[in-house]
Amino acid sequence: MLPESLARSSLDFQGMKLPGTVHTAESINYAWKELKVFDDDVFNVTYPKSGTTWIQEILSLIYSNGDPTPVKTEFSWDRVPWIEQHAHKAKIESLTSPRLLTTHLPLKFFPQNFHKSKAKVIYTIRNPKDVCVSLYYFCKIAQFMEFREDFQEFVARFLSKDEVYSGWFEHVKGWLTLKGQPNILFLSYEAMLKNPRENIVNICKFLGKDLDDAAIDSVVTNSSFKAMKENGKSNYSAVPKFIFNQDEVSFYRKGIAGDHKNHFTPALDEEFDKTYHELMKDVDLTFT
Ligand code: A3P
Repeated sequence: MLPESLARSSLDFQGMKLPGTVHTAESINYAWKELKVFDDDVFNVTYPKSGTTWIQEILSLIYSNGDPTPVKTEFSWDRVPWIEQHAHKAKIESLTSPRLLTTHLPLKFFPQNFHKSKAKVIYTIRNPKDVCVSLYYFCKIAQFMEFREDFQEFVARFLSKDEVYSGWFEHVKGWLTLKGQPNILFLSYEAMLKNPRENIVNICKFLGKDLDDAAIDSVVTNSSFKAMKENGKSNYSAVPKFIFNQDEVSFYRKGIAGDHKNHFTPALDEEFDKTYHELMKDVDLTFT
């Protein structure tokens, strides 16, 4: 029997908060300490709301050489599952190589076996103000996320260490310590929006995948915001409402850069910038 509602509660894993319903301490330990990592594994790593689903779709399409059949017939979370969610262990263990995997884990809890492998990581970074706005709406949709209706309060939590997955700042700073390593590619959500084709070609190069022009065109077309929003295997419309309620807001909400300008008051913007400069002072990152 399925429950009629979920608890909007957090799990505390060694000081990191995570949505409780979909994670357990056991599932995090599995991803962190037990997961076998193969040299041809590809990890799609993000702080939530930074373009995770977009990269899931792009990876699926690249590995099918542009054939849209897999993205039209299999759910995104089965094609490129999250390694830390307890419901996905069996799926991960049944995947055939090369495996496409997703995670929101900060570097300190990322699979330890990765560091002894030649597996690859694609890490996507998005303007944190837009991440915050997107997360606000996502928390409304996802019935297992803690939610604060008041946007100012929501931003205060986003700027604190209490935010999920160690918070945006620690997450991004941690992963950026691997910059320059040949098996990690950093992507920018905003750059992807400006020039998806160029970024997709770059991802193919990083993965050693040689797709012809027609295949690349298909990856671009089938991973567009419109195509993904309409794709029942990627738009979460199949997920019951007590888990994902998209009545008021769609998971594919806007898919643009700069929506924070429609949400942040000048005072809130200033507060955000102040924290950003304090926490990111040694990091070379700029956002438009
Ligand atoms: P918005 O809420 O700002 O619209 P994630 O997949 O990490 O949860 O991120 C979701 C965000 O990425 C949402 O942002 C969603 O609209 C956006 N997104 C998903 N697919 C996209 C695509 N193909 N192009 C642009 N943005 C996309």
